[in-house]
Amino acid sequence: MSKSLVQQQFGAHAAAYATSAVHAKGASLKRLVELVQPQSHWQALDIATGAGHTAAAFAPHVAHVIASDITDEMLEETRKLAASKSLGNLETAVADAEALPFEDARFDLVTCRIAAHHFPDVPRFVSEVRRVLKSGGTFALVDNISPDAHSTPGFPEAELADAAATYNAFEKLRDGSHGRCLGLAEWCNLVTDAGLAVLHREILPKDMEFAPWAARMDADAGTVARLRAMLEDGTPALKAFLRPRLDAEALWFTLDEAIVIARK
Ligand SMILES: C[S@@+](CC[C@H](N)C(=O)[O-])C[C@H]1O[C@@H](n2cnc3c(N)ncnc32)[C@H](O)[C@@H]1O
Repeated sequence: MSKSLVQQQFGAHAAAYATSAVHAKGASLKRLVELVQPQSHWQALDIATGAGHTAAAFAPHVAHVIASDITDEMLEETRKLAASKSLGNLETAVADAEALPFEDARFDLVTCRIAAHHFPDVPRFVSEVRRVLKSGGTFALVDNISPDAHSTPGFPEAELADAAATYNAFEKLRDGSHGRCLGLAEWCNLVTDAGLAVLHREILPKDMEFAPWAARMDADAGTVARLRAMLEDGTPALKAFLRPRLDAEALWFTLDEAIVIARK
């Protein structure tokens, strides 16, 4: 998936991310701050900041935070958010997650929330995170995950692999800039292979109403119908993972977000 497609998709929908409840108020935001225990002297970097919600959540607790992204329109939303909250210690920077324009060992904390599934080369991203972290620095990752034996126990490996591929196809149909959601075990292995020590991992389920989820990326009627069919007619493993259900006529499902906290 190309980075220009990411910029096109997110550039066109930047305002929707500024107000999206999942991004602005999702449970993982508060939980991340709780787990990281940021310190007032810390230099922080938020990668793929989107409309800046994660950078803004950490800014009051650290000395300085750079909110970075490759999409200018998103950084514009971040600047508006910082101004509205009078966050004088938050600055924005254009940065590709896989080629960070920052010197080695600059940051005490690097965060990245609900974005890594867009990155074409995730090992390169994690290696960049390690490079810009000080020794003893913290990496705090949140991302949607795909099903594996950890999140969706009780299914043979082949059925889980099939469910993971279908789940990623479901996301990609709604948003062409979607790359791939990894499983939680895959994330932990990758972080460890990059030379960071995993201190904590957990899964947070988040309930999604289907219609606004599809609308946020402007899916047309045909695409919405195909997405709905994928959700309702999935294999048992996919249904165990996405938990589709009707509630007062509205279709809902659940996505799993993983939090991984690691130290350099
Ligand atoms: C869903 S938004 C991020 C949400 C945000 N982190 C939050 O907590 O609300 C995904 C962001 O990833 C950015 N992005 C995608 N690929 C990127 C890359 N290779 N480098 C930097 N940013 C990237 C997009 O521009 C978009 O702003």
